[in-house]
Amino acid sequence: MLSFDTNGEFSQNYKFLIGSILPRPIAVVSTLNEDGSNNLAPFSFFTAVSAKPMIIAFSPLIRSATGKPKDTPTNILRSKEFVINIVSESIADKINLCSTELPYGEDEFAFSGLTPIDSSIVGPKRIKESLIHFECKFRDRLNYGDEPGCGQIITGEVVKVHVDESVYENGRINTKKLNPVARGAGNDWFRATDVFEMERLMKAQIQK
Ligand SMILES: Cc1cc2nc3c(=O)[nH]c(=O)nc-3n(C[C@H](O)[C@H](O)[C@H](O)COP(=O)(O)O)c2cc1C
Repeated sequence: MLSFDTNGEFSQNYKFLIGSILPRPIAVVSTLNEDGSNNLAPFSFFTAVSAKPMIIAFSPLIRSATGKPKDTPTNILRSKEFVINIVSESIADKINLCSTELPYGEDEFAFSGLTPIDSSIVGPKRIKESLIHFECKFRDRLNYGDEPGCGQIITGEVVKVHVDESVYENGRINTKKLNPVARGAGNDWFRATDVFEMERLMKAQIQK
């Protein structure tokens, strides 16, 4: 087995993370810029944290090219609000366009061809073409440094969820109909078209 120390180049660590922790779900985070314009960016360092209160977390890294923070955390730390939109395969190419590093204040909705719609509680817009939206109020930030590649955990309390009727059946989200995509290493993406089921043994069954 090969072994590596983690105190070298950040890019080596980064490649190891994205090649090992996968498929990663994608949060497309909508925020408002200081002038009120829209900002949209995908983040695959993303997970659920708590069911009640409903908390989700993602991690924007410091930009490797400039050593500066990304626009998304800057906007969240100022306005304390954001929306997380879930990515189905039908909009994957447009979401990929949202990751383009546009100058601050340029609207990624317009750039990608996605449609902004009002949220019910927070200021940032939702993506009309996305089938699930989480309206979030900023909760916590854990920062791991200010050098290129340093990450931070941003958590949000979900104050409203929205789901398209087409993917919602008997109180559950139908994975096949949602048809989400996920991120792999490099430019790899995953489809969720080969899902399999496995029942968990419960305590009562083990004791039989
Ligand atoms: C599918 C996908 C997932 C991404 N995940 C992350 C991530 O978890 N963390 C991160 O810092 N950048 C991630 N990026 C890159 C950001 O989306 C990109 O830097 C974007 O320009 C940031 O935009 P902002 O400056 O408006 O926040 C990802 C890009 C793509 C296409």
